[in-house]
Amino acid sequence: MKYTLVCTLSELPNDEGLKVVQGNTAVAVFKVNGEVFATQDLCSHAKWSLSEGGYLEGDVIVCSLHMGKFCARTGEVKMAPPWKPLKKYPVRVDGDDVYVAFEDGYFEKELC
Ligand code: FES
Repeated sequence: MKYTLVCTLSELPNDEGLKVVQGNTAVAVFKVNGEVFATQDLCSHAKWSLSEGGYLEGDVIVCSLHMGKFCARTGEVKMAPPWKPLKKYPVRVDGDDVYVAFEDGYFEKELC
């Protein structure tokens, strides 16, 4: 798995995501109680940027366009209108550095 340095922990906002891009892949990185999670940046409902147009309520990502909700940990839908989960991306934290494996996005089955 190839990880790419995307930011530092201190660059991650507390209640919203940070958009990071590699090639055609845009990922939203979220910090939740000291843990870091990464999902596809575009909402699965209507392709709204979750990092630029969304925010966190605890470990739930709220999409501000239609107020759909997703679990930041698993990508599962927590509230419609979205019905499709978010793709997740492996994250590694090394000291203050945050890495994402852009080529290894996946859908997680586990519920929050
Ligand atoms: S675009 Fe996100 S809920 Fe509709």
